[in-house]
Formats: sequence, structure tokens, C-alpha cells
Amino acid sequence: MWLAAFTVLALLSRHSLGKNTYREEGHYEARQLSNPTCREISDTISSSSAVYYPVLNPQKYTKGISHWARSSTQRAACVVEPGTAADVAKILQTLGSRRTPFAVKGGGHASNPEFSSTTGVQIAMYRFSDVVYNSTDQTVTVGSGLIWDDVYAALAPHGVNVVGGRVTGVGVAGFTLGGGYSYLTNQYGLTIDTVVAFELVKPDGTILWVTKDTQPDLFFGLKGGFNNFGIVTRFTLKTFPQTQVWGGLITVTAPFIDQISAATADFSANVKDPKASILTTYNFLLGQPGVSQILFYDAPQPPPGVFDKFMNIPSFTKDVGTRDFLSLVKASPANVTAGTRAIFNTVSVLDYTPGLLKAVQNESIFWGSRLSNLLEGNTGVFISYDVEPFLPDFLSHADSPSAYPPTRNKSYSPFNLYYAWLSKADDDDFHSAARQSASRLHDVAIAEGQVLDNASVYPNYAIFDTPLSELYGDNLPILQALKKVHDPNNVMGLAGGWKF
Ligand SMILES: Cc1cc2nc3c(=O)[nH]c(=O)nc-3n(C[C@H](O)[C@H](O)[C@H](O)COP(=O)(O)OP(=O)(O)OC[C@H]3O[C@@H](n4cnc5c(N)ncnc54)[C@H](O)[C@@H]3O)c2cc1C
Ligand SMILES: *[C@@H]1O[C@H](CO)[C@@H](O)[C@H](O)[C@H]1NC(C)=O
Ligand SMILES: *[C@@H]1O[C@H](CO)[C@@H](O)[C@H](O)[C@H]1NC(C)=O
Ligand SMILES: *[C@@H]1O[C@H](CO)[C@@H](O)[C@H](O)[C@H]1NC(C)=O
Ligand SMILES: *[C@@H]1O[C@H](CO)[C@@H](O)[C@H](O)[C@H]1NC(C)=O
Ligand SMILES: *[C@@H]1O[C@H](CO)[C@@H](O)[C@H](O)[C@H]1NC(C)=O
Repeated sequence: MWLAAFTVLALLSRHSLGKNTYREEGHYEARQLSNPTCREISDTISSSSAVYYPVLNPQKYTKGISHWARSSTQRAACVVEPGTAADVAKILQTLGSRRTPFAVKGGGHASNPEFSSTTGVQIAMYRFSDVVYNSTDQTVTVGSGLIWDDVYAALAPHGVNVVGGRVTGVGVAGFTLGGGYSYLTNQYGLTIDTVVAFELVKPDGTILWVTKDTQPDLFFGLKGGFNNFGIVTRFTLKTFPQTQVWGGLITVTAPFIDQISAATADFSANVKDPKASILTTYNFLLGQPGVSQILFYDAPQPPPGVFDKFMNIPSFTKDVGTRDFLSLVKASPANVTAGTRAIFNTVSVLDYTPGLLKAVQNESIFWGSRLSNLLEGNTGVFISYDVEPFLPDFLSHADSPSAYPPTRNKSYSPFNLYYAWLSKADDDDFHSAARQSASRLHDVAIAEGQVLDNASVYPNYAIFDTPLSELYGDNLPILQALKKVHDPNNVMGLAGGWKF
């Protein structure tokens, strides 16, 4: 039922998107064409790059400012699509000297408003779309404008893969610069643990390849530090052999949620096979609770027993089997709520116990019902609580330190909550609920004896006003000092995001 209701929400969202766009048009146009920073950029860049304006290039402009979450989109003065690192350098120098607010967008999946959007200059990295596989050293160099779907597709013919996003549409850049939790993380670590090099354009216009050996300080800082040190144009990532995989999406309705919780707690406690991974998502939509369950195994068939408990639960829909890695990624329903307003928040936990899962389920129903009642106009709401268990040694795969996570002494698993709604008037209520609900789950975990003193939270899931110390712990002063060295004029402070 609630799966069908997804469609309703998606339709509502498109309706509201069109309406708002229309309403917001108009008063921007005149000043945009005369924006001096956009003009200067346009005059200095090479023919490999372009500047787009809303009136002259509406399609390119709209694509450039668009984000997965509508609440992460703003009306920029212009969109700049750089095509070379040298042009990125010129653009950063212009932005710095004019002190113009700007934004850097990779895949545009930021859940926080203003992290990759601006009313100033929107940089969209789409033209950095190369995928160059090196079979000799088993690496791939990928442009920072790509989404993971495209990287998987390009690598599949070589029988190799990278440690990247789990669902369709997510950008390589923000995902990697924040950490990166993948289906392959139990085997190979976070995405940052597989980075060999970053091509970085520093705010002063220097272009350099940052590696563990050439620039150890920046290499550390970029692994979790997002856009604080400049704009990354390319990533070189380790590749790993990839066969067909097994898995997909199961959805279940309310009567079977307890069985899913039991199977999830059992998997979390007992399955030690690093090739196995699950995502259990408690949903609430139009008054109905339900679960979407993703199963993943990194081989054409899982060994008997690993997923039996899940497979035996009566399902509403079931799309599970042997398939290409990309097919599994595309089976996720992540695009269904694209274009709605959104917020994420997160908690880090040591164990997904039956008690904690009960509390997660309760939170999804409590806030799902409550927020539906609070809405301005009956516009629809989608609540999703996402359980992501990882093995106790998943952080043991790094061969050099990283900005995130600040300590690898214990392996905390991330938990993600996601709210989607339609009206801007409801933003504050949803943000406040996301804070309260995460805080409640943190308290429940502690009350049942989990020791979370030094648990940092994942920057790609944390709500925008989370204190930086909760993300970066003891690394924060180091990162702040590093940022002063590499960006003394705080040019990158003109862009949104987590700021050192
Ligand atoms: C549907 C969905 C599924 C997700 N699934 C996962 C998951 O499985 N695992 C996981 O770990 N996370 C996941 N995430 C979170 C995801 O990692 C973040 O949203 C991530 O930041 C998205 O990257 P992006 O390039 O698409 O985002 P953007 O919005 O383009 O950028 C995010 C941040 O990175 C900065 N940035 C972007 N490009 C550059 C660049 N070239 N140089 C410097 N800074 C840059 C931006 O300025 C911004 O601060 C998911 C998010 C969504 C919405
Ligand atoms: C591939 O990697 C090898 C080993 O590091 C290196 O010698 C070679 O130049 C690389 N090839 C390309 C095309 O970059
Ligand atoms: C999801 O949307 C993105 C665009 O944001 C697109 O590239 C991708 O192919 C879509 N995935 C599916 C499965 O439709
Ligand atoms: C369910 O969650 C709400 C909100 O956090 C809380 O007030 C309530 O006590 C919870 N109920 C149970 C049974 O845990
Ligand atoms: C992590 O472990 C090291 C040594 O094992 C210790 O020095 C350090 O204080 C620990 N850090 C945290 C945050 O627990
Ligand atoms: C937390 O970190 C501090 C050092 O920063 C360490 O002394 C302490 O033992 C850690 N606590 C836990 C529970 O790991």
C-alpha cells in the first residue's frame, strides 16, 4: 500500500515543484545577467567551460542548480560548468578576489540546505566525467562530476568495481569527500580508504595531485574534509574484482515488520561474512508503516543461511536475485522522492539490538503520524529510518589516517533518518523533529548500555547545525590549522558545507 503511495507523493512533489519554480521566476532575471562575477568568469575561462544564465540557457541553468532534495536547491546568479582544472583555478581566483558566495556541486545529493547551492555562483562539475581504468595498477581515475551509476557502468566490462554508493543517483564527489559507506565497505573499508590520489585545485589556483606521499596533510584533510581545501576535479580509486552479485529490494507491510526487525537484529549480531550487507529501512507514508529491505551479497549466490530469515518473510514486493552490481544499485527506490524537501540526521551506534530496532520502529511511527498531523495543508510526508549494520572490523582497512572518522578504535555503525515533505512552511517542524528523534535514539542506545562517548557522527548524514566537534572529534583543531595554511584568505568559506 505505502509503496503505491510513494507514487502519490512523487506526483504531488512534481506538481509543487512546477508551481514553486514558476512563482520564484521573474525578479531574479534582471540582476542575474548583469552579475559582475559571472561576467568576469565568462571572460576568463577557456572554450572548454561555460557560464549559463536562467533566461538565456534555461535548461542548462536548471540542471546546474538542481539537487535531489528541492530544499537543497537555490536560485543562483549563474551556473558555471568548468571543463578543465585550469579553468577551475581561474574561477576560484575570481570568486576569491571578488568575495562572491559560491557553491560546488558534484551529484547534488546533499541533504542539508546550502551545502552545494547558493544565490551566488553555482559551480556544477558535470564536465569532469572521465573514467580512466588502469589495469596495471588496478586503479581508476574518475571525474568529480560523475554519479556512481556511471562509474559502475564504465568499470563493469573490465570485471572490476570501486567502493561507492549503494543507491542510484548519488554523486562521487560529496560521497567520497565525506567518507563513503558502501556494500563493499566490510571488505575494503570506507571509500576514503580506497582513494589513491585527489586532483585538487587550491583556492590560490594551484593544481596538484594529492597523495599519501606527496601531500600527507592534505591527503588526510580531504578524506572527510569536503570542500574546505579547494575543489577536487578527479579522484584515483583502487579497484577490486567484481563478479555478478546477489540481492535486491524486498518491501513488507505492517504485519511483518516485527519479523524484519528480528531478522535484522540476528544478521547484525551473527553474520560475520564481509561479503554480506543489508539496509533495513522503516518507512511511514500516508498513515502506513512498512519496511523496505535491501539485501546484498558479493557473489552470484549467497551461502545458505545468510539471508534465509529475510527471504522467508511474506513480502509485498520482491526483486531479489543474481544480477550486475549496477542493476542492484538501480533497484533502490531512491529516486521516487527526488524533488521533495528533505532532511537527514544520524546517530552512530555499536549494535543494532532488538531493543534499539524496536525504538527505531516506534520513532518512525510516532514522528510519521505526528508530522502528518502538523502539515500545512494536507500535502503528504515520507519518513524513513535506515538501519546500516557494519562488521566490528570495517574501519581496519585504512593505510593512512583520515579527517573522518576521528577515531577508529571502535567501529560505530551509522544510522540515518530521512524525512521528506513538500512545503517550505514545514521546514522548521521537520528539522526540529529530526533533531529530537536522533537524540532519542542516541539516549535509547546509551540506556541499554552502549558506550558511545567518542562516537563521531557521519558528516554526510548529520543535520546542518551539528557541532563540528561531533563530526571530527580531536581532529578538528588539526583540520582548522591545516585549512589556515592552505586557504589563508578563507576563499572556501564563501561556499557552504561543514566549515573548518
Ligand atoms: C538517496 C541518497 C542515498 C545515499 N546513500 C548513501 C550511502 O549509501 N552511503 C553514504 O556514505 N552516503 C550516502 N548518501 C549521502 C551522500 O554521501 C551525500 O549526500 C553526499 O554528499 C552526496 O554527494 P554529491 O556529490 O551527490 O553531493 P553534492 O550535493 O554535490 O555535494 C555535497 C558536498 O560535497 C561538496 N563537493 C561536491 N563536489 C565537490 C568537489 N568537486 N570538490 C570539493 N567539494 C565538493 C559540496 O560542496 C557539498 O558540501 C546518500 C544520500 C542520498 C540523498
Ligand atoms: C598505469 O599504472 C602503471 C603502474 O603504476 C603506470 O606505470 C602507468 O603509467 C599507468 N598507465 C597510465 C595510462 O596512466
Ligand atoms: C535516478 O536519477 C538520476 C538523476 O538524478 C539518474 O541519473 C538515474 O539514472 C536515476 N536512476 C534510476 C534507477 O532511474
Ligand atoms: C515512542 O517514541 C516517542 C517519541 O520519542 C516516545 O515519547 C514514546 O515513549 C515511545 N514509545 C515507546 C513504547 O517506546
Ligand atoms: C584510541 O586508541 C589509542 C591507542 O590504542 C589511544 O591512545 C587513544 O586515546 C584512543 N582514542 C580514543 C578517542 O579513544
Ligand atoms: C574516549 O577518548 C578518550 C581520549 O580522547 C579516552 O581517554 C577514553 O578512554 C575514550 N573512551 C572510550 C569509551 O573509548
